[in-house]
Amino acid sequence: MKVCTSTASLVVLIILVSTKCLCSEAQQCRPSGRIIGKKPPPGECNQENDSECCVQGKVYTTYTCSPAVSGQTKAELTLNSFEKGGDGGGPSACDNQYHSDDTPVVALSTGWFNNMSRCLHNITITANGKSVVAMVVDECDSTMGCDQDHDYQPPCSNNIVDASRAVWKALGVPHAHWGGLQITWSDA
Ligand SMILES: *[C@@H]1O[C@H](CO)[C@@H](O)[C@H](O)[C@H]1NC(C)=O
Ligand SMILES: *[C@@H]1O[C@H](CO)[C@@H](O)[C@H](O)[C@H]1NC(C)=O
Ligand SMILES: *[C@@H]1O[C@H](CO)[C@@H](O)[C@H](O)[C@H]1NC(C)=O
Repeated sequence: MKVCTSTASLVVLIILVSTKCLCSEAQQCRPSGRIIGKKPPPGECNQENDSECCVQGKVYTTYTCSPAVSGQTKAELTLNSFEKGGDGGGPSACDNQYHSDDTPVVALSTGWFNNMSRCLHNITITANGKSVVAMVVDECDSTMGCDQDHDYQPPCSNNIVDASRAVWKALGVPHAHWGGLQITWSDA
């Protein structure tokens, strides 16, 4: 009898869990493809600021979409230089300019960049109980990577806010911890 009851509850639980998965999956952003890593040629892939380089043969998932935007969209904050010669590569896509790393500027994953629609608009980034307003100037490409145009770096994840050091400073993150942080953001 006891066995029957627990088996029944287990079945109910499995049904509940699988239903929940199906529901949330409908709204999920799914991969758009994959690329196979190529080893950067000598002198390519600037690793000065802990940038990741593509690994030969490694499979990287690409995305044209990002998770849905809300008033508190969860994202991973990463560090980028938007200066000439920095690890961000060429000038920013929104204005074809370089930006001082002392100004709060960010690149967003392809889905959130949304075909330039957030260009030069500001977002509010919140973490550690602190907030900073930063301007969107570039795309963190989730659709391509591991080529010369992307400095032989892998495609971006689809949930990235790639930020200048001014953003990290404003959030009061100790320098030793710059590089990867869970944050939330919203359109300012
Ligand atoms: C690395 O970061 C420092 C400090 O943010 C910056 O001055 C330097 O230009 C960066 N180097 C590259 C290659 O991006
Ligand atoms: C992106 O914007 C350009 C210019 O407004 C437009 O021509 C193009 O169709 C858009 N692409 C997508 C995928 O929406
Ligand atoms: C974003 O903020 C910057 C700096 O405060 C400001 O110059 C710019 O006009 C703002 N952009 C928009 C679209 O409000």
